[in-house]
Amino acid sequence: MDSCDLIIIGAGVAGLSAALEAVRVCPKCEVVVLSKSDFSMSNSHFAQGGIAAVFDRVNDSIEKHFNDTLLAGGGLGNPAMIETLVMQAPNRILDLIANGVDFDTESDGALALGLEGGHSANRIVHQKDHTGKSLIDNLLHRAKQHPRIQLLKNQHGLRLIKDAQGNCAGIWVWNGKEVKGYTAKSVLLATGGCGQLFRFTTNPAVATGDGLAMASYMGASISGLAYMQFHPTALYAKNENPLFLISEAVRGAGAYLVNHHGERFVFKLDDRGELATRDVVSKAITGELKTSAYPYVFLDARHFKHGFFKSSFPLIYSKLKQRRIDPETDLIPVCPAAHYLCGGIDVDKYGRTNVPGLFALGECANSGLQGKNRLASNALSEALVFAKYVAEEMCVFANERVQKPDLILGDKPSVSNEKSSVSSYKKELLYKATDCLSYEDNHFLLQKAGVDLQELYKAFSSKKCVSIQDWIFRDLVWVANLMCMQRFIMPNEK
Ligand code: SIN
Repeated sequence: MDSCDLIIIGAGVAGLSAALEAVRVCPKCEVVVLSKSDFSMSNSHFAQGGIAAVFDRVNDSIEKHFNDTLLAGGGLGNPAMIETLVMQAPNRILDLIANGVDFDTESDGALALGLEGGHSANRIVHQKDHTGKSLIDNLLHRAKQHPRIQLLKNQHGLRLIKDAQGNCAGIWVWNGKEVKGYTAKSVLLATGGCGQLFRFTTNPAVATGDGLAMASYMGASISGLAYMQFHPTALYAKNENPLFLISEAVRGAGAYLVNHHGERFVFKLDDRGELATRDVVSKAITGELKTSAYPYVFLDARHFKHGFFKSSFPLIYSKLKQRRIDPETDLIPVCPAAHYLCGGIDVDKYGRTNVPGLFALGECANSGLQGKNRLASNALSEALVFAKYVAEEMCVFANERVQKPDLILGDKPSVSNEKSSVSSYKKELLYKATDCLSYEDNHFLLQKAGVDLQELYKAFSSKKCVSIQDWIFRDLVWVANLMCMQRFIMPNEK
């Protein structure tokens, strides 16, 4: 079993920022970062829009960003956390610039600020439509160069390890060949979300909720799972997983939604139209789809100035071209897709869970900041701002902790390279159940989804898990069960 001071599970913006912060504040600590797949496979990497932060002190203010965040979350967000976010986000952007991240600028050199749904002013700092990738490239480059950060890819977290005092003390991982244990004085889950629970998602294949499952098996408190955010404009494709995202920034630039009769419909629900918050726009589309023979509506950007789409959104433009859609002349078929989990592992400002030694940050964590619906482009801001607090606290905990040899290892998880027994039929059952969790407030259907999910979990947990695919599927179903239970508690809150 290998050991280190800090172990970080997840190599998105949250995990990498926390690693870089930890080695900065703690002169000796050794950090291991485990990535489940390749380093380019995280939700952060695919983030198109940008990072929300107030830079325009004439038309915007910290108070406006605070109010927009609170309002987007249905008034449920934690005001102290929101205040920290909005106050600190500009500083973190300046740190990134100082560390070599190039954001788009205006001709006078000022940061170019985009607009997205729910924002009352332009405040999205971005690099074209590939902000997440630019950010990850920079963080990864810096982490790779640091002598006290070790980055390991293809490490799938299986179960957390406890010590005799009930503290988290490490993790078992599957590295494709064997199950290996790592012990650490502080453990951070930065494992992202669980969009893969749903038939339609913008999340990559790695977003399977394993951090949530591991935390829950360890006894960590988890809440807010009912608040899965659906992004209104994923590019519709019948058999694609994940669906490609059409950034909210496209609507921010003036594109609008139309139904199959060519009519705009979001204003029926909200005066802000297409620039209402995501929950509202997704609801408007879902309502439209109920009376339509088609599973998608259209995004219309045909009125953009010639060349604007291609120069502002090159990544989206090239994807559309591959699909033989020219946004200058064609309508873009879009539908809502599971995008971001607003709930998760309960943490405080310092990422502390109720299990000593276990920390969480980013999408897998529930700091209470988002309320029931995240304001667009606040996710990267949150990861960057709170990475500082979390890293510091992890180092304090690690320095005070005397690593006891009496680890409770439990049964070493058993995984092999054998063929998976997860059939597409079983995936279909999962999707049927989660379809109800996404759109239905119907108590009867939710109850049925709950029973189906319990059956599915029972069928899997009675088997010895052999392949990693089986393991992943069982954890997914477990998270779906938790989500269903929490959805029940607040069926009308959605
Ligand atoms: C987008 O560009 O629409 C996604 C950014 C986010 O999830 O906030």
